[in-house]
Amino acid sequence: MVNKTILITGGAGYIGSHTAVELIQAGYKTVIVDNLYNASLGAVDAIGEITSTEPIFYKGDCTDSQFLKKVFTENKIDAVIHFAGYKAVGESVKKPLAYYKNNLDSTITLLEGMKEFGCTKFVFSSSATVYLDENVVKYNEKTTKTNRPFSPYGTTKLVQEYILQDTALGEEFESVGGLQVVSLRYFNPIGAHSSGNLGEDPNGIPNNLAPYITQVAVGKLDSLPIFGADYSTPDGTPLRDYIHVVDLAKGHLAGLDYVFKQSGKFFDPINLGAGKPVSVFEVIASFEKAVGQKIPYKIVERRAGDLPEFFADCAKAKEVLGFETKLDLDSMTADSWHWQKTHPNGFSK
Ligand code: NAD
Ligand code: UD1
Repeated sequence: MVNKTILITGGAGYIGSHTAVELIQAGYKTVIVDNLYNASLGAVDAIGEITSTEPIFYKGDCTDSQFLKKVFTENKIDAVIHFAGYKAVGESVKKPLAYYKNNLDSTITLLEGMKEFGCTKFVFSSSATVYLDENVVKYNEKTTKTNRPFSPYGTTKLVQEYILQDTALGEEFESVGGLQVVSLRYFNPIGAHSSGNLGEDPNGIPNNLAPYITQVAVGKLDSLPIFGADYSTPDGTPLRDYIHVVDLAKGHLAGLDYVFKQSGKFFDPINLGAGKPVSVFEVIASFEKAVGQKIPYKIVERRAGDLPEFFADCAKAKEVLGFETKLDLDSMTADSWHWQKTHPNGFSK
């Protein structure tokens, strides 16, 4: 048993729930907070079933300072992993205010609560979207960040990093020993828990590749639209860096170890990817193996904002976190399919 309690905001969501499982299995005590905007209690139940524990769960909003005060008063929190936020790129273009308000306000309110209760360890869910440098394909942590990410969602991630960095380097946490932040920049998480009981459960028609394919395979959608096959890549489709969500979850354990070793004023961004560019056709082929049937697709127009290729330089994660991925593309697609096949309607019964 690790004698530490971790607050997981957004812990009923896709990545947060997988991380909760890994943390509990590693012996951490966890406190899960989620407003269930994009998640259901089914995920909390699944965390409990997989770990044979009764998860500590609070339904509430990270923009609500009184709610957070209650959570911090009732639990002695040693570190926070902050997943809570809105994440749909297309929706953020239509509803920028909602995205700026929820994503920025939740981070600021959380930081204020942490300061009040003397909690100084912060692991942040950032994204490769903070780079999106059209002239580079392999992003390392020093790759120039764009001044203006493609979407309001991306801008909220970049601005949240600035808020965290400025707060870590400023004076407001000095009275409690300084704020230590690790910002984990995720590439493309896919896959599900190997038990088949926990996975991605998007609302409505999925925006992302893997859940779209599994919904085609299970018969909920007719065919996959491939957003362009005329890119200057080996098979014409864009290359991305897919990482198994369980590997990603384990990256948070490494991130926690790292942040617990730091003191004073500290902010460090670290990529979490597999470091291997994979095309849309390769993802489809891997799913076809898992499913045992062809995935119908149609090549359509390119999607605005898509880049031909980007993937992670994983050297820093290996060097400072000792982190490397273990699960390959076939495990990602097999686990995604296992989850979808056994839960065609996600967590709803
Ligand atoms: P998710 O939507 O499944 O999880 C986010 C959770 O936060 C949801 O359960 C939602 O209900 C909750 N939430 C939202 N606003 C909240 C608030 N104000 N208070 C309390 N709970 C709130 O998304 P995910 O894929 O698990 O992503 C988790 C984090 O990782 C997000 O911050 C996202 O931006 C970031 N990220 C995700 C990806 C990805 O591809 N999934 C890639 C890069 C970064
Ligand atoms: C998207 C987000 C990015 C976010 C990331 C992680 C956009 C523009 N970017 O990245 O900000 O951090 O998800 O979740 O939305 N594809 C199809 N058909 C589909 C869906 C996707 O061909 O129905 C293709 C896309 O063109 C892309 C690849 O599949 O080449 C992966 O797409 P997706 O899963 O949406 O991830 P990203 O676009 O990399």
